Amino acid sequence: MAKINLKNLKVEAKKGIEKADNLKDLDEIFRKYLGKKGKITLIFNSLKKLPLNKRKKLGREANLVKIGLEKLIREKTQKFKEEIRAESLGKEKIDITRPGKKVKIGHLHPLTLVQREVEEIFQSMGFSVITGPEVETEWYNFDALNIPKDHPARDMWDTFWLKVEANTRIHTNDTNRLLLRTHTSPVQIRYMEKHQPPLRIIVPGRCFRHEATDASHEIQFYQLEGLVVDKNISAANFRAIIEEFLKRFLKTDIEIRLRPSFFPFTEPSFEIDVRRKKGKWVEMMGAGMVHPNVFKAAGLIPNAPAGGWQGFAFGAGLDRLAMLKYKINDIRLFYSGDLRFLKQF
Ligand code: PHE
Repeated sequence: MAKINLKNLKVEAKKGIEKADNLKDLDEIFRKYLGKKGKITLIFNSLKKLPLNKRKKLGREANLVKIGLEKLIREKTQKFKEEIRAESLGKEKIDITRPGKKVKIGHLHPLTLVQREVEEIFQSMGFSVITGPEVETEWYNFDALNIPKDHPARDMWDTFWLKVEANTRIHTNDTNRLLLRTHTSPVQIRYMEKHQPPLRIIVPGRCFRHEATDASHEIQFYQLEGLVVDKNISAANFRAIIEEFLKRFLKTDIEIRLRPSFFPFTEPSFEIDVRRKKGKWVEMMGAGMVHPNVFKAAGLIPNAPAGGWQGFAFGAGLDRLAMLKYKINDIRLFYSGDLRFLKQF
């Protein structure tokens, strides 16, 4: 009876396996015949009630059936799994023709762009690019530039004084007080102390003034200092160089005019205005012939009365140059961090 039962079960189970359409069907078949309460498992459980010889024979036969079914189920399970994998691989195929996602990268600040462009133009005219400290001593910022303590010209600059005192005497005449430099002109002195003329430098850099801010004034701004020293440098050389620079930088025809002005460190001094064709004159920089006292402060012999060095210096607002080039009407935009502004460059 059990024997017939076993044969039938084998045939029945094999058919079931053949018909199975998916992993779930196979799982059900496994449980139906070989699971804890499976039909073949029950036969094994019934063996102990049989006499020994029958038990051995039926046990062996039941075991063969079990092994056979397990093998069939395993093989078909494998087949289904491979099909599933192949299908999902087909779906996940990478489409290399699909446009990629754009990675957002930043770009340089308009003032940096302008600074680099300005540097390139001057370098092509033989100038070296020099930098100096933003925290300066009173000596370099004022005294060495022919601005004595009691001179009203100091009032031209509203200075941020630092509370700390420099603990080393940087210069014998140094008053040792520290400040945020009000202009890039102190680098003229620093450079001439260490380098013998002829020299041709520009000094881009940040400056600070304790001013009320408005559309054309900020407490921090960028300047571009220029200094050319040789034996026969004249104001005519200055005019030619600055006109050439402005034409290349603004990429249009411009006019410039020199107005008499005053700076303690230049004599004579002038103010340079620029205008695009028939436009409004815009004040762009201060300039002049280097004052003899400035050469002396840097340890050079001036050409006054004769036989020494002479040259010109200028100080332009980098922010102003950028404003003129890009037609920006408010200097505060440069420092606002407003992306609507910055993204336009
Ligand atoms: N340092 C002056 C300023 O900040 C500009 C200047 C530089 C003028 C060099 C003349 C010569 O206003």
